[in-house]
Amino acid sequence: MRALFKDIKGLVGCYETSPNFVAGEEMKNFPVLENAWMEVVGEKITGFGPMSTCPKIPSGKAQTISCANRYIIPSWCDSHSHLVYANDRAGEFLDRLRGLSYAEIASKGGGILNSAIALQKLPEDELFDRSLDRLLEIVRLGVGALEIKSGYGLTLKAERKMLRVIKRLKQVSPIPLRATFLGCHAVPPEFENSSDYTDHVIDDMLPQFVSEGLVDYVDAFCETGYFSTEDTARLMAASSKLNIKCKVHVNQFNILGAVNLCVSGGALSVDHLEIIDDADVSALKESLASGSPTFPVALPLCSHFLGLPYTPGRKLVDAGLPLTLASDHNPGTSPSGDMTEVVRLGSLKMGLEPIEAIAAATLNGAAAMELQDQLGTITPGKLANFFVTRRMNGLEEIPYRLNDVVVEKVYVNGEHWVG
Ligand code: NIG
Ligand code: FE
Repeated sequence: MRALFKDIKGLVGCYETSPNFVAGEEMKNFPVLENAWMEVVGEKITGFGPMSTCPKIPSGKAQTISCANRYIIPSWCDSHSHLVYANDRAGEFLDRLRGLSYAEIASKGGGILNSAIALQKLPEDELFDRSLDRLLEIVRLGVGALEIKSGYGLTLKAERKMLRVIKRLKQVSPIPLRATFLGCHAVPPEFENSSDYTDHVIDDMLPQFVSEGLVDYVDAFCETGYFSTEDTARLMAASSKLNIKCKVHVNQFNILGAVNLCVSGGALSVDHLEIIDDADVSALKESLASGSPTFPVALPLCSHFLGLPYTPGRKLVDAGLPLTLASDHNPGTSPSGDMTEVVRLGSLKMGLEPIEAIAAATLNGAAAMELQDQLGTITPGKLANFFVTRRMNGLEEIPYRLNDVVVEKVYVNGEHWVG
């Protein structure tokens, strides 16, 4: 297909040559070209510019799409999800409404262990079908690249089943996917402690899964009651020996010193950060100075759903960091993969300007999956994954229009997908 998008009110994130990520003040300068055109040939973006330079293509040679009063935004790049799971956990949500905390529900056998029991029982094909339905649903919501974690298996067999499902999803997915082995997510009851289970993950699961080509990244839930900084450090060291980078759940409920540990170990991202101290910010700044940063990934839907503090996004951007926004799509703490909602909360609750939140959910999301060469900006040569918005006078209408649909027409690999 050849298509010319004309009269675009604002072409967001357009660069002739894309940076690898944007940090600090650069995020406010994520470019928006007003009154623009963009051309797509096949599955790639091939050009863009102001309407005064719009190419004249003979009729019949290209499809022309008018985008008057509408923005074009690169697809959301969601770098943190737990999309592969068996069942929702609406039942325990009722317990939470009645006053039980996340920790209390977990100690009653709910939470991650509850998801693991359901997943262990579910045949692989059924798990695949349910996960594919969820994937296609979020593609319709404008997601153009996605990371998916294991971690609801908690046995070698069930973790492999999850990772195999992610591999099969990659084969049919219209969008690029990344597979993360979340080996250390919760300690299954048959293990004495987190250290013993970490041994099993490191000695038995990790090498096998890597040799089977199932792992792009490795993850741990470094948190009181889950895995210690020592467990996390050992898992990171084992991954590093196999040349696999880590993306780690840190600082969701407690500060354990994991940010510094992850930065020192060269982690690609540290995710959650609902609470964060000055030492954490300094560590992240040091990683930026090295040129290949550890991306701080905020998950505002999780804060919203659990009533936790929001990651201090404004503070992190003001510190010059490449803040990233992701969904954390999972049945326990964020039962949604709607990245528009994530961007909304980024503005409403984290003090980000809409353009900063968009940069965090597009280019920086792509970079937190090492997909920045293919996605995350409107740049000639990148994949034509983008969406056309509703009519808007300014990007501030994304958070302002609390319940309105923003993503109207979705394009994936240059093809009109929905809308
Ligand atoms: O990112 N915090 C750890 N893991 C998931 C939630 C897991 C669950 O409750 O099912 C998260 O929030
Ligand atoms: Fe998560």
